[in-house]
Amino acid sequence: MSFTDPIAPPFRPAEEVCRAAPQHVAVIMDGNGRWANARGLPRTEGHKVGELSLMDTVAGAVGAGVGYISMYAFSTENWRRSPSEVRFLMGYSRDVIRHRAQQLNEWGVRIRWVGREPRLWKSVIRELRAAEQLTAANTGTQLLLCVNYGGRAEIADAARGLALEVETGRRKASSINEKSLARHLYAADVPDVDLLIRTSGEQRISNFLLWQLAYAELDFVDIPWPDFGREALWKSITAFGRRQRRFGGTN
Ligand code: FPP
Repeated sequence: MSFTDPIAPPFRPAEEVCRAAPQHVAVIMDGNGRWANARGLPRTEGHKVGELSLMDTVAGAVGAGVGYISMYAFSTENWRRSPSEVRFLMGYSRDVIRHRAQQLNEWGVRIRWVGREPRLWKSVIRELRAAEQLTAANTGTQLLLCVNYGGRAEIADAARGLALEVETGRRKASSINEKSLARHLYAADVPDVDLLIRTSGEQRISNFLLWQLAYAELDFVDIPWPDFGREALWKSITAFGRRQRRFGGTN
């Protein structure tokens, strides 16, 4: 971290936040483009500020004791954006991972990549793998970077994995159930999402963690991603702590 870095290292928030901290928070970082447009700036400027929001939010998750935080950085549908924005987002993701991996490592964060390989820039995959290796032994908060990720793609890939087991005689089709499918997800050991936060006021899931969101509490926050950070995360966690979760049962 350089001395000009405005991101404060993780620190513990109020007890109320720590008590409410969910095991798994998922975040749809939305609104970078609109934030920039509202200021007469190119969309890419919004993404650049979004890096600071990402780091501050992860610091907030570490401080609060969140076990896993999944960040939607690039979806399998984001390839539909203009070639120049896609090119920017690829180079930007590669650079963010390269520049921030060491700092995240110092915070005890374990970085994991979740997503599909095809189409993803080789240089992005290289940085993701290097960050995974660097932080593999860390036992703190796990940061799941969802890059070239799609919820339907993940479920389809899991179904293909099961079909292969049937085809090769390692499994009977009749043995397939929710548990066996879940074992074929990209990060099968990670628990379901407890709290999903989407910034920028849009109220959509956008193909994020479709399987893992089954019983998540949803928080659609009315501020753009570049204005989000640890304080906003802690506010969301505190509100989560007051929710009644029944998982299909009764109180
Ligand atoms: C959505 O805003 C945001 C993105 C598509 C990219 C967000 C990614 C980061 C902030 C960090 C990436 C970093 C790593 C480590 C991989 P939008 O463009 O959809 O905004 P809009 O809805 O206002 O157009």
